[in-house]
Amino acid sequence: MAGSSRWASSAADKAEEARRKLEKEEKKKAKLEKQRKLEEAEELRQNEAAAARDTAAGIGSNGDEEASGRPAKRRRLSTDNNATSDEASQRPRKLLRFAAPGWGPCRSVDNYEPLNRIEEGSYGLVSRGRELATGDIVALKKLKMDNLADGFPITALREIQTLRASAGQTHIVALREVVLGTDPINDVYLVMDFLEHDLKTLQEEMSEPFLPSEVKTLLLQLVSAMDFLHERWILHRDLKTSNILMNNRGQLKIADFGMARYVSEPPPKNLTQLVVTLWYRAPELLLGAEQYDDKIDMWSVGCIFGELLKKEPLFMGKNEVDELSKIFTLCGPPTLHSWPTFRRLPNARHIQFPPTPPNLTPTEVKSMTTPSPLPLRTHFPLLTNSGTALLSALLSLDPLTRPSASEVLKHPYFEEIPRPKHTSMFPTFPSKGAMERRRRWSPNAPVRGEAVDFGKEVDGGKVDFAGIFGGNSEAGGAGFALRMG
Ligand SMILES: Nc1ncnc2c1ncn2[C@@H]1O[C@H](COP(=O)(O)OP(=O)(O)OP(=O)(O)O)[C@@H](O)[C@H]1O
Ligand SMILES: [Mg+2]
Repeated sequence: MAGSSRWASSAADKAEEARRKLEKEEKKKAKLEKQRKLEEAEELRQNEAAAARDTAAGIGSNGDEEASGRPAKRRRLSTDNNATSDEASQRPRKLLRFAAPGWGPCRSVDNYEPLNRIEEGSYGLVSRGRELATGDIVALKKLKMDNLADGFPITALREIQTLRASAGQTHIVALREVVLGTDPINDVYLVMDFLEHDLKTLQEEMSEPFLPSEVKTLLLQLVSAMDFLHERWILHRDLKTSNILMNNRGQLKIADFGMARYVSEPPPKNLTQLVVTLWYRAPELLLGAEQYDDKIDMWSVGCIFGELLKKEPLFMGKNEVDELSKIFTLCGPPTLHSWPTFRRLPNARHIQFPPTPPNLTPTEVKSMTTPSPLPLRTHFPLLTNSGTALLSALLSLDPLTRPSASEVLKHPYFEEIPRPKHTSMFPTFPSKGAMERRRRWSPNAPVRGEAVDFGKEVDGGKVDFAGIFGGNSEAGGAGFALRMG
């Protein structure tokens, strides 16, 4: 309106405003109506497609809803308008059925035909078998029932519990069922999907280590399984290459949950110290930590990462002390700077470090307590800077500075060239699991009651460090010394 302020209101403005509002509301209504019609049409289409699928699968016509593993669809039970009440009473009535999980007896091991033995470990004997009904090839792990007088072994219960909790995770071996032999107390078998290889046996057979792009793919798969477990408060506690399976499509799956268990935050106080096979055991466990968390698994992941690159285990210690010595040689000895709390661990009092010379400036003291850079470069000359950073982070002595599984998944190492190789491009290898096999020696998972206290007397003497430190009661290792008794 010429001459009037654009903020001024008038009757014409108000009418125009009311008209626009009405128009807007009508448009909104039309839109909602259109959406409703679309949804109805989609629902109808889905129902028709599902009905056609059911007819094709023979479900519903023979009352086989449960066998399909899918809950039965809702059916109209009342008579329709056109049917007479007589017709309705003659028509067979069907009950609604829903598949619900429940308790049931275990099937017999006789449903499987034994093929060959794969391996005997600390907690079970693993064989390859075939399911008679389906012809599926499976792995059967006969659980060891030592000390049955104490009841059904807790390790077996935890293995079943944690494997079931991991069902569906692509990188954790699938537990199909638990079956029983003739003696239902002693003969308990876990039936799992069969995988052609374990990484330990496979690496022993390979002439060259995995390529960097293959290492990345394997590590990513391993860490994604660990992320899944740790997110759900499950610690594996025995990660090692022999417990990591691989199929001929380059897919990796973690197995052997014999030491796995649920934990909490803060960690439970009664955790077993003697966990994880020696070569993959974190320094805090070796130093007697009574509380620990997911970072013990991440240490093992670091050991496996190094092993995949080198094609041999990183720290092949003969005993706990030798293991620590090998760790400190590669990672540098712990210092108050790199691991402020290590001196509080029970076994740390048996380790003597060089005394701090008097009259040093704080900067000089700090440089003394800072470990020398990891000599990882010399051990892994082909590893990129980013790969070295990831490996040294995983091999941090202090569990607090070790990355979690979810942090590792985001590491730039996986973004670098060469990118992780697609699993479909992995080479195939002849399976050793399909024949009798014997591995080179390597330590087994720890067994209860084996824990070593460095200060404890053995056979009337002291724990023998002579093999490593030259037989002296105090001898130098990687910049540190072990004191007897
Ligand atoms: N699902 C499977 N498919 C193929 N091979 C398997 C499977 N599960 C286990 N194995 C083989 O059997 C070996 C022993 O299995 P597992 O580690 O579960 O038993 P264990 O008695 O707990 O072993 P250990 O004490 O040596 O760690 C594995 O290293 C692997 O070679
Ligand atoms: Mg094992």
